[in-house]
Amino acid sequence: MSAVTATVHVARIEDDASVRAVRGLRVAQDQYRFVGDITFNLGDSLRDPMSEAMAVWADGAVIGFYRLDFAPNAVAGRAFERPSVGLRAFVIDQSQQGRGYGTQAMAACCADLRRRHPDRALLVLTVNCSNLAALAAYRKAGFVDTDELYRGGSAGPQHLMLHHLQPQAPPDPER
Ligand SMILES: CC(C)(COP(=O)(O)OP(=O)(O)OC[C@H]1O[C@@H](n2cnc3c(N)ncnc32)[C@H](O)[C@@H]1OP(=O)(O)O)[C@@H](O)C(=O)NCCC(=O)NCCS
Repeated sequence: MSAVTATVHVARIEDDASVRAVRGLRVAQDQYRFVGDITFNLGDSLRDPMSEAMAVWADGAVIGFYRLDFAPNAVAGRAFERPSVGLRAFVIDQSQQGRGYGTQAMAACCADLRRRHPDRALLVLTVNCSNLAALAAYRKAGFVDTDELYRGGSAGPQHLMLHHLQPQAPPDPER
């Protein structure tokens, strides 16, 4: 596995060149069941006023994509105890996988959310139980497993994972 050679950053997709670059992203054939069609996900997130389409950049090129969903029940069909944002359809292009870019992209995603959406306290996602690469990348980037299984996906049970974007209040000693 090659080490990362470039710094990763993330940016909202707002121009045609980024749209074309995301449409050119590919994953391995057996990975599409985890994310679906990338061009569909891109178009859907650009049309949805409650979503943001995001590009992952390294060395001046788009190497990945994800969408942020701000509707409270977008990810697990329910709202959370703190204001949340959902992460969906995350991909790193097949040619760039396994170099640490996925882990770096998630760290950049959290930094971006703290800066642009400081009202959001939780980043939430579901990940298929058999998607070992994604589980590893999310854990390395600081996501924690809730031990709650989400069974709404078409490709089998999924772990519900959370990332705390803001410090948590200390437990109330009176309770
Ligand atoms: C999931 C994904 C975004 C991760 O991106 P990435 O750039 O390959 O991730 P990283 O290089 O940061 O790797 C993260 C960890 O996963 C590990 N990993 C990679 N492939 C793995 C595999 N097949 N099995 C187990 N672990 C794996 C890596 O070793 C790394 O851990 P390490 O640094 O301790 O070795 C990418 O694999 C992808 O686009 N997959 C297809 C789409 C998908 O499944 N998206 C997630 C939907 S929830």
